[in-house]
Amino acid sequence: MRHLFLVLLGWPLLGWAQAPIQLADVCPAGFETSAENTCKLHTRYDQYDSLYERGVGGLQTALPAHREGFSPQQIDLGRHLFFDPVLSGDQTQSCASCHHPKLGFADGLKRSIGANGAENQRAAPSLWNMAFLTRFFWDARSGSLEEQMTGPLFSPVEMAASPELLLERLNASAEYRRLFAEAYPKQDVVTLDQLYLSLAAFQTSLISLNSPYDRYAHGSPDALNAQELEGFNVYRSFVARCSECHTPPLFTNQQIAVIGVPEPDGRPFDPGAQVPFDNPDWRGGFKVPSLRNVAQTAPYMHSGSFTTLRDAAEFYTKGRGHALPEEEKGRVQLHWHIWEPKLAEHELDRLVDFMRALTDESFTPAIPAQVPSGLAPVGRVPPALQARIASTTHNKNEPTGE
Ligand code: HEC
Ligand code: HEC
Repeated sequence: MRHLFLVLLGWPLLGWAQAPIQLADVCPAGFETSAENTCKLHTRYDQYDSLYERGVGGLQTALPAHREGFSPQQIDLGRHLFFDPVLSGDQTQSCASCHHPKLGFADGLKRSIGANGAENQRAAPSLWNMAFLTRFFWDARSGSLEEQMTGPLFSPVEMAASPELLLERLNASAEYRRLFAEAYPKQDVVTLDQLYLSLAAFQTSLISLNSPYDRYAHGSPDALNAQELEGFNVYRSFVARCSECHTPPLFTNQQIAVIGVPEPDGRPFDPGAQVPFDNPDWRGGFKVPSLRNVAQTAPYMHSGSFTTLRDAAEFYTKGRGHALPEEEKGRVQLHWHIWEPKLAEHELDRLVDFMRALTDESFTPAIPAQVPSGLAPVGRVPPALQARIASTTHNKNEPTGE
């Protein structure tokens, strides 16, 4: 009921005196706008050659290839679409309902809740630095952002829309037709490919590469304090082995690893990547998640099993396979880097300090004050934010979702 209230509340506020939406004509922070009107990312990692310092945890290692080359208008149209509940079947939920910028582009839940109130099987991952990834979803089942998003858009337990419905709705909106024509000048009707491309363009603009760790890596020794530095040394040690999988500078090696995370709440074992790849060696395997901005995205793992970063770190020192159900123990092929590092309490605390030093939200995009459908931006907000938002909705200038 509460979300309905918030949605309805949005109407009168948006009903008058709204200037038409203008798409940005310059690229988001971190990107340079080229003469051809495309956006090119610049980071200090550009100056490094990955061959320069080989080995896991090397400070001055280049980033993997990334997607770029969208226009500022495509990215900004994607931003409006991302926050517009018009994309869900019943128009209550936007992408941001499960990937909210105030929750590290996740939703704070163990399992996301779809537009119809249905529970998803897994936790919503963060969307920071999507531009660098080549596989999507926890089980790596999707090979592009465009393919990935047809999952949430059309899944009955997520946004529950259909391709026909979205085409009809977007083409029926004069405002959307105008904005799509601005972003895709050669087309006069809105197509699904343009919708997918715009959302992909926006997601590839979510860059987080200027944390205290990065400043340290680029040569400022004081950017990490003594505790964070001690944590970094544990992190990249051959005892803890965190950086073998969560490899800097992206803090993921983008591989699938079987580590034996428990399922909470009496739920059945999740076979993970075994299913899409039809590979029994990957039973219980999941994509190694990046740890950038991880301090913002509790609870942790595909299953949301751990409430704090401390619990997540402690998992690795409780013994190889300790959390597997009995019947899986002989079946699951745990990764060889999962063992019993016997980390001391203070080492676990320092690991947490280090993971917190991977936080950088300086390029967080603004939630649009209005979205083209005229609905309240964001739509249903994650429960973890509802109280905060209820206390600010009396202020007309504060868009819902801020
Ligand atoms: C109902 C909540 C919900 C909504 C709405 C939602 N997502 Fe997600 N999203 C999830 C969950 C849960 C996963 C992980 C599912 C899995 O791995 O099986 C996910 C995964 C993703 C991923 C993969 C990230 C990675 O690291 O592999 C991307 C990208 C993504 N969503 C983008 C979007 C976009 C774009 C939209 C809007 C079109 C959207 N999501 C709407 C819950 C949601
Ligand atoms: C063998 C590869 C591997 C090693 C080594 C490893 N991890 Fe992980 N890590 C993973 C995988 C795979 C997941 C996701 C598992 C899942 O969801 O079931 C994960 C998840 C996490 C998460 C949760 C992230 C999120 O967004 O939910 C944290 C935190 C984490 N690891 C920290 C560490 C730390 C700290 C170490 C070192 C003590 C470490 N990892 C070592 C593979 C690894």
